[in-house]
Amino acid sequence: MSNTEYDSEFYRLMGPFFALKAYRKTLPYLYNEDTITWFLAIEDDAVIGFMAANNLSSKVLLQHAYVMESKRKCGVWGKLNDERMKFAESMGKPLETLVNEPFLIGYFEARGFHEVSRMGSYLRLRKDARI
Ligand SMILES: CC(C)(COP(=O)(O)OP(=O)(O)OC[C@H]1O[C@@H](n2cnc3c(N)ncnc32)[C@H](O)[C@@H]1OP(=O)(O)O)[C@@H](O)C(=O)NCCC(=O)NCCS
Repeated sequence: MSNTEYDSEFYRLMGPFFALKAYRKTLPYLYNEDTITWFLAIEDDAVIGFMAANNLSSKVLLQHAYVMESKRKCGVWGKLNDERMKFAESMGKPLETLVNEPFLIGYFEARGFHEVSRMGSYLRLRKDARI
């Protein structure tokens, strides 16, 4: 799903994740801006998972990944991330992401990302642009 900051269909689907207290703990840094393209997994007209690619001037940030607890470990994140990676790589810029889950660090490292810095329990991983 592409994005404009004021897209009513986007907020109909994503509003609960931005607003409900139940999600604020897991998603305290969730925000939207016009450089962000969103990738949504939808089941029965409701979002079951989402993630974003933020196309900045010098890099594309992969951020805001979440899958509903009842839908985890079924490949939702993996499928959305394949789409996100295709989109992000087509921008021709380095890709960056912040991760703290060991399995996600392994997943990104297996796809060509390397560690560039650490912030507490988070690792900043980068994949250089293909020349
Ligand atoms: C992280 C998260 C998005 C993964 O979503 P998911 O749909 O369950 O992931 P998938 O089923 O697509 O799994 C992707 C890979 O990670 C592995 N994996 C998923 N959850 C795992 C877990 N808890 N422990 C170990 N491996 C796990 C899967 O086996 C799969 O590996 P494979 O491709 O080798 O088979 C989900 O757990 C989540 O929303 N967590 C809370 C928010 C969060 O941590 N976001 C990431 C911020 S960096």
